[in-house]
Order: sequence, then structure tokens, then C-alpha cells
Amino acid sequence: MVDVIYGRGVTDILREMPYYISIFKKMTMYRLFHVKQPMYGSVDVNNVCNLHCTHCYWWLNRKEEQDMSVEDWRQIIKDVFNKQRVFVTTLVGGEPTLRQDILEVFCELMPHRVCVVTNGTFPLKRYDGLYFYWVSLDGTEKVHDTIRGKGSYAKTKENIMGYISGPPRRGKPAYKDIWLTMTINSVNHHTVEELTEEWRGTVNKIGFQFHTPFVKGDPLTFPFGEERNRVVDKIIELKKKYPDYVINSVKQISLMKGNWGGIGTTPVQCPSWAILSLDHMGRLKQPCCIGSADSKSLKPLCEDCGLGCYSILVAQGITGN
Ligand SMILES: C[S@@+](CC[C@H](N)C(=O)[O-])C[C@H]1O[C@@H](n2cnc3c(N)ncnc32)[C@H](O)[C@@H]1O
Ligand code: SF4
Ligand code: SF4
Repeated sequence: MVDVIYGRGVTDILREMPYYISIFKKMTMYRLFHVKQPMYGSVDVNNVCNLHCTHCYWWLNRKEEQDMSVEDWRQIIKDVFNKQRVFVTTLVGGEPTLRQDILEVFCELMPHRVCVVTNGTFPLKRYDGLYFYWVSLDGTEKVHDTIRGKGSYAKTKENIMGYISGPPRRGKPAYKDIWLTMTINSVNHHTVEELTEEWRGTVNKIGFQFHTPFVKGDPLTFPFGEERNRVVDKIIELKKKYPDYVINSVKQISLMKGNWGGIGTTPVQCPSWAILSLDHMGRLKQPCCIGSADSKSLKPLCEDCGLGCYSILVAQGITGN
């Protein structure tokens, strides 16, 4: 099957036509009447992670709480996501692969509209209804391990290769299910090209976003300026060289040269409303998927934001709060 857009073929697009129409209607309602209806979803399926990465926003606001049951999520998917015609939902955590029962129910009730973002340190399971896996690799092995812990790169690589060597899924070779995501920061930015080349021809796609700090002076922030611009230009060069492999659009990645999100901790240009973001208890996260349901929690700095999932919408003309 030929990929037409974001890894989707003609049959996928035909099957999902009602969702594309729904997105068009939602965008029109926003533009004409300022009605905000989410088009996409993001869910923390659990409150547990096996790693403690140095750059991670999730640990900043984590409290000791239980996860929900698979039946609770079944109800939320039906009452919220499917009722509101949310198109693609991204499952995060914590580490979502620690709750395979919840991933299963999302894939069952939102078939081919579920992405799982994972650290890839556990074997990757095949789900019939999965769209694809986003596997986080934060640079080449040495630098990735300084961020994510010694031996984590090797474990993730082993699990990716294990998955790829398995049988096709829905008529597509297994490598098609693996997309890499790298969060660029002050310590790993020099490995963008090497990581891209290392995985080219092995996985389906690679995408880049930038670290989003929650406090000024966060040492992992890669500040705006010439050095950061050079990295963005490198990604644009790679995109031109490998247009089907590098997933960022030139317009989206160019936004990363400056502030595209907001003022202080307030989203302005960022369409935070467009992604319905729930935490592990099914509570609405504010202002966005890296925020929190607790209004007293530490907040991401919109003016230094590097997130891909919202900036891609801005690049497509979906903006505002
Ligand atoms: C919180 S993790 C949850 C899923 C899974 N545990 C993983 O690591 O992929 C989701 C994604 O957010 C990214 N991330 C974590 N902290 C971030 C930050 N401060 N700014 C931007 N992205 C961040 C991670 O690198 C990962 O790709
Ligand atoms: S594996 Fe994911 S959730 Fe866990 S600490 Fe790392 S980035 Fe955060
Ligand atoms: S995605 Fe970025 S700009 Fe948008 S609300 Fe979150 S932190 Fe702010």
C-alpha cells in the first residue's frame, strides 16, 4: 500500500473520510464562531514509568495515585473520544506499554487512530488497530543514555529490531509501524544528523521536536539563536533529502527558530484547545498535553515551547486560544 499522507494509504483515507469532514467542520466552526472542539486526543494511560529521564516533564508534576481500570477507559473512549469524533489519539504516560490492557481497548474502540509513544524498553506488541508506535530516541546511543539511563538505547534498539523482524501487520511490513521521535535539547542537538542516518532504511519515519522547559534557566533548554537555527536548518536539509522519512514539514520546523506558542505560561498562537488531553485519571490537563489537571502545578513555558504536536497545527493554519 502506498503512503499518501502521514503513513496513511488511499484505503485508510477513504475509510476515515467522515473524520476528515469532521475536522473540516470543526476548523470552520472555530474560524467563524470561535467554537473550540478538539480534533485530536492525548491520554496518559498510566501513572508509572520505568525510567527517570533528565528532560521529562511528566515527573515534574507526578503525584502518587492509582491508574484507572480498562473498563473506566472503555467508558471514556465511548463517551468522550468517539462521541466528539476525535480523530487520532496519542497514548503516552508514564510508560504506556506497561498497560497493554488499556492500549488494547483504545486500539479496539478507535481502530487505526491510535499512536503509542513509548521509550521502547519493553518488547513492542502487535495491535491490530494500532496506527503506529512513536519510539523516543533522544540522540545517538551515548547521549541518549545520559538522558534516559545507561543501557536504555541498546534495549530500545533490540525491541525495535525484534518488532521489525516480525510478520507484516495488515499487509504492511512491520517496519512501517515504527516512527522515531527525538526531543532536541542543549546536550543532544549535535546528534540530529547521525541519528537520522543511523535509522534510515530501518524504520518508517523520524520526527523532531524541541525540549520545552517549565522553568527559566533549565539547563536542557536549547535557546533561540544562531546555534538552534543551524539545527533547524539541518533538519530542513534532511527533510529535502529524505522527504518521506523525515516527518516534520519545513513550515513546522521553521517555527522552532522562535516563539510560536505564547507569552510566559499562557498559550496565544498555540491551539491548545485542538488536542483533548487527559491524565491517568481521565481529568482534563491544562493548558495542553504536557500540563496538568492540577491548577497549582508547575506550568510549561509557552514562550519557549518546542512541542511538535501543536506546532504542526499552527503550521497548518490552526491557531489561537
Ligand atoms: C513523557 S513521554 C511518555 C511516553 C514514553 N514514556 C516515552 O518516553 O516515549 C512522551 C514524550 O515526551 C517527550 N518529553 C519529555 N519531556 C519533555 C519536555 N520537557 N519537552 C518536550 N518533550 C518532552 C519524551 O521525550 C517523549 O518522547
Ligand atoms: S520514559 Fe518517558 S515518561 Fe518515562 S521518564 Fe522518560 S520521557 Fe518521561
Ligand atoms: S503546547 Fe506549548 S505553547 Fe501550547 S500550551 Fe503547551 S506549552 Fe504552551
